[in-house]
Amino acid sequence: MGIKHIKLDEIESTQNWLKENISNYLDENILVSTQSQTKGIGRMGNNWSQMGRSLAFSFSLTPTDPITLTPLELGTLVIDYFNQQGIKLVLKWPNDILVQDGDELKKVGGILCHFHNKEKLIVGIGLNLDPEALPATTSFKFQPGAIDSNLQAREDFYHTLPYEILEFILSNRRKISSIKEKWNRSCAHLNKKVKIADDSNSHEGSFVGIGDAGEAILNINGDEKRLVSGSLWILE
Ligand code: BTN
Repeated sequence: MGIKHIKLDEIESTQNWLKENISNYLDENILVSTQSQTKGIGRMGNNWSQMGRSLAFSFSLTPTDPITLTPLELGTLVIDYFNQQGIKLVLKWPNDILVQDGDELKKVGGILCHFHNKEKLIVGIGLNLDPEALPATTSFKFQPGAIDSNLQAREDFYHTLPYEILEFILSNRRKISSIKEKWNRSCAHLNKKVKIADDSNSHEGSFVGIGDAGEAILNINGDEKRLVSGSLWILE
């Protein structure tokens, strides 16, 4: 099946646009990309701010089984797409895309999934491509970074790169064992001490890997703890 591509110059949020319009595109692969996103949304109720030249796009996708593994599968596919371009990226649980910048890990992108129905997810991906547009100081939980490459020299890259990334995703869907193996291999914090917290709970332990449903497995003083949601901080 081909990809129906909606190219917008400016929109508040490609994710909200697709949520509102998905019922018109249930029988096809739909991609919406924009040059300027003015009110992007992130995970856990956060905002997603555009930093200079960056990608903001949303698309519909058949979930993998189990559905909760899909965002992690997408993380492995997005970094493999960039790997093919000679750009090395790593993953932070659950859905963050990072780059190693000297001694520091920086967040260059994120993946957001909304459930439409059991056959259709609405996926949003944001990726920073402009190192010069990064703020000097920030209040972000994780220091922002950008993919430093010449990809943004491509004509119309705001639209052509999302299209290429989605083509790559659709041609390389993965199954549980491959997702787990690839995710753990690209994990920025495997066997490191981490904290995973949400509004009500906080756990610290060594990150052992992801489970079959994409959950984080921590070793806390010899006991195994499996967590399905929250934000992760790398403590060492
Ligand atoms: C995260 O919080 O890390 C996920 C960020 C996802 C941002 C993307 S940009 C394209 C799409 N439209 C939105 O409003 N959000 C997602």
